[in-house]
Amino acid sequence: MSARILKDQSADLQFARNVLSKGSVVSLPTETVYGLACNALDKDAVRAIFEIKGRPLTDPLIVHIDSMEMASSVAIFSDRAYRLAEYFWPGPLTIILPKKDCIPSIVCAGLSTVGVRLPSNTLMQKVIKYCGFPLAAPSANPFGYISPTSPEPVLKTIGNKVSGVFDGGVCKFGVESTVVDLSNPKKIILLRPGPISSVEIEEVLSLPVFNRVVHNEPESVSISPGQHSKHYSPETTLIIFEDDSFIDINENDAVIYLQRPIRKGANFYYLSDNGDWKEICHSLFNLLYKLDQDSKILRIFIQVVKDDHPYALVYRDRVHRAAFKSLG
Ligand code: TXA
Ligand code: MG
Repeated sequence: MSARILKDQSADLQFARNVLSKGSVVSLPTETVYGLACNALDKDAVRAIFEIKGRPLTDPLIVHIDSMEMASSVAIFSDRAYRLAEYFWPGPLTIILPKKDCIPSIVCAGLSTVGVRLPSNTLMQKVIKYCGFPLAAPSANPFGYISPTSPEPVLKTIGNKVSGVFDGGVCKFGVESTVVDLSNPKKIILLRPGPISSVEIEEVLSLPVFNRVVHNEPESVSISPGQHSKHYSPETTLIIFEDDSFIDINENDAVIYLQRPIRKGANFYYLSDNGDWKEICHSLFNLLYKLDQDSKILRIFIQVVKDDHPYALVYRDRVHRAAFKSLG
């Protein structure tokens, strides 16, 4: 099977509704990264997603909805969950809440909670509305690999395993949604940093948010299902640096800077013109994918600096995981 390329037009929306209703899988753009979507209420379709990605069944999926009405059919909303949803949806925030029975256990890796998100991408919204059921959708990458921010990597890596890939161009943010756990009334926990910062969430709720994001810890201390220390990784060796004077590069190396470097040459790449963190995050996965596809490049060096900007935290989280050497 080779994926049909789909556009925002009625014949393709009909095709998507048809195949999704029958339990097939379609890739769709969101404002964060491309997702691999199926009917969240169909456990066999959900199983197919785990198989396509090569993802362990212990790693729960996010359920995407198009309205508060659909949201409250899949999860139990507390007052604070309503407040967050009202403020940040549609948008890049996933809220973990107690699940309702209609969501099959496989979606949530057997947990009693479900991650819910109303994406702002209008094509994704349109498909959910058109289908009338929620869509379970992880990022559309093979497990552990770089998340796709455009249709090309989806087609290249898993295109032969899905019925269709919607072309919605390049994703607005280029990094995955913020994941916040509201299932414990005593403690609000940030499980994954993303475009919406914990400070913004604290401001809306007037409550503290506990940040449990840890790096370079053995898998055994992984604090959230699916938040593995190694993730988002290119095949090519990825090495973090702060100060480039220590790097000894050769012709098979690529060096990624945060902003346009003074050094000039074919080996030097940069993520933003002038160090804008949002732009840096937006370019990260796209550039890593491009360099990973270049067979001449054997090592990628990537710059990381300490900075308190919320997007700098997102950047460090993704880069540290991408460069993490698996322990076993
Ligand atoms: O931006 C995004 O969130 C993208 C787009 C497609 O929406 N999706 C995405 O999904 O990044 P995925 O599967 O690659 O990452 C979802 C993560 C899981 O790895 C897990 O850590 C967390 O969300 N998650 C989902 N359900 C959870 C639950 N019930 N409890 C704790 N964590 C959960
Ligand atoms: Mg993912």
